[in-house]
Amino acid sequence: MSNVIVIGSQWGDEGKGKIVDWLSNKADAVVRFQGGHNAGHTLVVNGKIYKLSLLPSGIVRGKKSFIGNGVVLDLWALAKEIKEVSKQGININKELLSISETTCLILSYHRELDTAREHEIDGIKIGTTGRGIGPAYEDKVGRRAIRLCDIFDSKNLKKKVENALFHHNPIRKGLGIDEIKSTDILNQLNDIASFIKPYVSNIWKDLIKLQDEEKNILFEGAQGMMLDNDHGTYPFVTSSNTISAQASLGSGLGYIKKAYTLGITKAYLTRVGEGPFPSEQNNSVGEKLGLLGNEFGTVTGRKRRCGWLDLVLLKQSVDICGIQGIALTKLDVLDSFEKIKICVSYKINDKIFDYLPPIITSSDNFEKKYIELDGWNVSTRSCRNYNDLPKNAKKYVSLLKELTGIDISLLSTSPEREDTILFNDPFR
Ligand code: GDP
Ligand code: IMO
Ligand code: MG
Repeated sequence: MSNVIVIGSQWGDEGKGKIVDWLSNKADAVVRFQGGHNAGHTLVVNGKIYKLSLLPSGIVRGKKSFIGNGVVLDLWALAKEIKEVSKQGININKELLSISETTCLILSYHRELDTAREHEIDGIKIGTTGRGIGPAYEDKVGRRAIRLCDIFDSKNLKKKVENALFHHNPIRKGLGIDEIKSTDILNQLNDIASFIKPYVSNIWKDLIKLQDEEKNILFEGAQGMMLDNDHGTYPFVTSSNTISAQASLGSGLGYIKKAYTLGITKAYLTRVGEGPFPSEQNNSVGEKLGLLGNEFGTVTGRKRRCGWLDLVLLKQSVDICGIQGIALTKLDVLDSFEKIKICVSYKINDKIFDYLPPIITSSDNFEKKYIELDGWNVSTRSCRNYNDLPKNAKKYVSLLKELTGIDISLLSTSPEREDTILFNDPFR
């Protein structure tokens, strides 16, 4: 038996989708355990592009896919995604996809609240994806969420929707948005119920059975460690826990007996939305990284902020997630840089930090220490053999291993599935 937990070690968009698709070849099942359609995962298979937000990335290979209780689910977004993926020849049925009956739903009032708050001039702007993620998780912990199982419980659904609106309508009123009627929500849910019904099940039992049978389960994290609600750059984070520990809670398995944690790490760094970014390059270097790395958000199309790899944050992720191996992605984006930098420490008020102090909400006013390496000026794009890499690219990879103390398990050199070099198989 071996389970693999895939986690983004940075601020998301590290290339998790590509790596999960690649790894899922050996998996018996793939599980999403947090987040929602704020995630955007791009897979490229023989030139064909798949864009996934809610569906686990193993689905393209036809692997059994689960959406766990830790996810917040927009049923209309899922329906659209299923339709689009089906058009690309992936036949999604109840044998392939199962969704936990306790998954909390994102409803129209969550999306509207998310957007309205982001437009509040006086509030702290997070730069969310506007998908209603935060408000939906708030309702979950506030015990007023509508869960998937509720929509088939016609006797109690009305009362539950009214209970949620009892909370939401006064807020809407305060924000100048029209109040909402329970019948509107009930009608929306009624319209979509028959579409979703076949996929709904008690997935924790399925997962326990798979674990007992010693099958390979691949846990697919969304977002990244620095967006974690507890451990990230709060308040500029998402509303779920994104670290590896969440895989057991949010999948429904409760307890993962044994797992290898793989941290997906971009060879440089990006961030979408607001918040501190110590190694950000608000200059021609950042522009070039963005251009060569095609750094535009899959979900919102926003331009991603770009900078050098930050070892301080990477080590923090390694420690907090218990990362055992790194999948280094987008090495090819660095191909034409004369010099490549890695941020190794921060100096804040004359004190050197090897972690980002949680009180920091802007990284403008402190000193960052970098090491500088020579670039390689040769294309590594689509390289599939480590020995074919230029000397300085090899140096970059081995330095990363030395500085983090963590094995580089995989190396990715293009968006294409097979442009991947394996060093250590996470499914050992
Ligand atoms: P995720 O959210 O972590 O799954 O990452 P995204 O899919 O949002 O963003 C990563 C982007 O980089 C996607 O467009 C991928 O196709 C692309 N990508 C992944 N790996 C590589 C790589 O090694 N090189 C290059 N150039 N692009 C890559
Ligand atoms: P994947 O899985 C990058 C960011 C948003 C915003 C913050 C909060 O593709 O790596 P939210 O809508 O979650 O309340 O927004 O989190 N964010 C992501 N950034 N990749 C993601 O997912 C993200 N999901 C959320 O940009 O800064
Ligand atoms: Mg993404």
